[in-house]
Amino acid sequence: MSHCSCRDLTKMILGKLEGWSLGKYGVITEEGKRGTKSVGPNMTSCHPSYGRKDLLVDCCPPGFQSPLPFVDFQFPDPQSPLRIRRPAHAVDVDYIAKYDKALSIMKSLPHHDPRSFSRQANLHRLFCTGAYDQQNSNAPLSIHRTWLFFPWHRMMIYFHERILGSLIGDETFALPYWAWDIPQGMVIPDMYTNNSSSFYYTMRDVSHLPPQTADLNYVSDTNLSPEDQIDINLAFMYNQMVSGARKTELFMGCTYKAGKEGYCNGPGTIELAPHNALHTWIGSSLNPGREDMGKFYSAAKDPIFYAHHANIDRLWEVWREAHKQQLDIKDPDWLDSFFYFYDENLRLVRVKVGDVVDTIKLGYSYEQVHRPWLNMRPKPSYPPKLARQMLKTKEKNKLEMLSRTHVSSPELDTQGRALDASLTVKVRNHWRKKEKEEEKVIVVHGIEVKGDAYVKFDVYVNLIDQFKISPKFREFAGTFAHIPGGGAGKKKIDLKLGVSELLEDLEADQDESIWVTLLPTTPSCSNVTVGGVRM
Ligand code: C2O
Repeated sequence: MSHCSCRDLTKMILGKLEGWSLGKYGVITEEGKRGTKSVGPNMTSCHPSYGRKDLLVDCCPPGFQSPLPFVDFQFPDPQSPLRIRRPAHAVDVDYIAKYDKALSIMKSLPHHDPRSFSRQANLHRLFCTGAYDQQNSNAPLSIHRTWLFFPWHRMMIYFHERILGSLIGDETFALPYWAWDIPQGMVIPDMYTNNSSSFYYTMRDVSHLPPQTADLNYVSDTNLSPEDQIDINLAFMYNQMVSGARKTELFMGCTYKAGKEGYCNGPGTIELAPHNALHTWIGSSLNPGREDMGKFYSAAKDPIFYAHHANIDRLWEVWREAHKQQLDIKDPDWLDSFFYFYDENLRLVRVKVGDVVDTIKLGYSYEQVHRPWLNMRPKPSYPPKLARQMLKTKEKNKLEMLSRTHVSSPELDTQGRALDASLTVKVRNHWRKKEKEEEKVIVVHGIEVKGDAYVKFDVYVNLIDQFKISPKFREFAGTFAHIPGGGAGKKKIDLKLGVSELLEDLEADQDESIWVTLLPTTPSCSNVTVGGVRM
């Protein structure tokens, strides 16, 4: 079997050949004429890309140089049975046997078959490390940290699921989802640790195998009891799904448009964590980038990737429903952004984001589970009145004001401030006089990550007690969890955190300014600089 090996091409000069972006995919389409800014790949532009800073990977599909014929996406027959994705911890032996069989067949297909497992895993590698340029442009294409995150991954596992089903002749086959957001699902599901199944995988952190409770906001190992970890996880989910996600961009990620200038770098709550955090938590601590799950170029080689992403996909549905679809993106540039995937009949299909918004039209849905995080609204760690008193005293304390960890200007040094220690910034509350309904947002802007290690810092508002740092307390505003890599171009990252409910609960929504604390939690934060904090 010819395999796409991950050749180390570090020394090779990465040159993009002029003219690669011509060809079928470079043709200006109808949309192009009306000036669309939708994003899509130029499939003939595939080139080696960096999996890690020190690892150039070359995994372009066979024959990519010439444009291939494709068909436009069509919805599956609405008469065909709905595929119901069920939680992986609750599926029965028959289902596991069926999935196991489908996956073994998929793994036995030769690499030239786009349905093969190696090619499926490569899809993620190609799109997630920036191996493609955009159509009509040599701007890199990226599918992380923007509003394309949810739809691209939905497309990927949609086709993956249908291929698996077709390999065993079962059109009801549905992927399982790893329900890590609910207590029963907060361990790696058993089916993935059975060493006689095709779900088994050795490149995982052995200390995180069952019965270890997953840490949805993972930084490093703790000694928390399972009960405490579960409580923190639920409070964290509340922040990421409810109070921190009351505005489209906060959940979906930033607005990404075509061309060099159109790129944005601003992930949504769920993508930051649990998504990134759990990738890191699963990956093996013995590998330099916690491969395989810990890096995007290798992540989809681990079968648990697909259950992880089924849950991400499900949470997108949960969020859409919670807002009665009112927060769905309506921008035609998002709806018309497109990708290509092979379907179960070996046809190359062009599929638009607008095609994949409605899962029922796509022929699948999720078995519902009880979601205890919905009611986990956290409480302030200090009575708000007392807290305000203490903050004012702190402010008067000149010594503390002069210390380098306490600054009163929201714009940090011109070069950006390194996050080698915790940093508290006084920020004017510009939202004080604005419409009540408008979601108040804190922006930690100009984040630059220089190293190649997993980076994580947490953000707190009006924090008083450095020992009460946990998503269980209302002062917690959100987190920055970052896996370096992804061919994103050079743009710095903006972290946006929705804080209306938090400010209300801290009784700070009418205050003239608030204190925002950035709390580095990984040593790699010394390679991170931040441009400033604003509201
Ligand atoms: Cu493309 Cu879970 O990442």
